[in-house]
Amino acid sequence: MTTQTTTDFMEIVKGRRSIRNYDTNVKISKEEMTHILEEATLAPSSVNMQPWRFLVIDSAEGKATLAPLAKFNQVQVETSSAVIAVFGDMNAVDSIDTIYDMAVEKGLMPQDVRDRQVPAIKGFYSPEDTDTLRDSILIDSGLVSMQLMLVARAHGYDTNPIGGYEKDQIAEAFGMDKDRYLPVMLLSIGKAVDAGYPSVRLPINDITDWK
Ligand SMILES: Cc1cc2nc3c(=O)[nH]c(=O)nc-3n(C[C@H](O)[C@H](O)[C@H](O)COP(=O)(O)O)c2cc1C
Repeated sequence: MTTQTTTDFMEIVKGRRSIRNYDTNVKISKEEMTHILEEATLAPSSVNMQPWRFLVIDSAEGKATLAPLAKFNQVQVETSSAVIAVFGDMNAVDSIDTIYDMAVEKGLMPQDVRDRQVPAIKGFYSPEDTDTLRDSILIDSGLVSMQLMLVARAHGYDTNPIGGYEKDQIAEAFGMDKDRYLPVMLLSIGKAVDAGYPSVRLPINDITDWK
């Protein structure tokens, strides 16, 4: 089965499903992966902090490191073009100056607005209140992950979000600081070789209240 590239939004949304088995002959170039990540990072984030960080695991060595950490998801690790490990950066507040300065440079934000907002943001996400920061980072990183899955479909690829891996070991295994980088999920990406499994959803009336 080959996913067709489409820009039809409803087709992208309704046609997405978790694909666990991929064509091993298909490699996604670094250039195309960069475009996919750029498009994914158009996702919104709290105060535009963009706390997500990506580790693209697409080499044989990288996959060999990952495989024992994702024992129940071996097919995705082995057959995908890449597994993208999504992390949240507990030091993301350090990028706030850069982000807001970029907005000023591009003429998207007046300097005085930047000068008011940056200290306010740093005050809100104080280093002592790690729970607030962590919650925010995990929400934002979930949003970028979802967007990445949809963008992948627009590029003709399929994905599987994976939570079944050794989250306590992944950062260190790849030489990253485990206290700084929160594991969010793995996303396998590649060309599907089967159609996956259709899945059901709860009726909206069972999960929604209108007041
Ligand atoms: C955070 C998260 C973790 C998941 N972990 C796994 C996993 O470890 N292995 C797996 O095969 N699928 C995993 N899934 C995929 C779900 O099983 C799948 O999304 C769900 O059954 C709905 O199917 P669909 O994605 O085809 O719509 C995960 C999905 C999410 C969102």
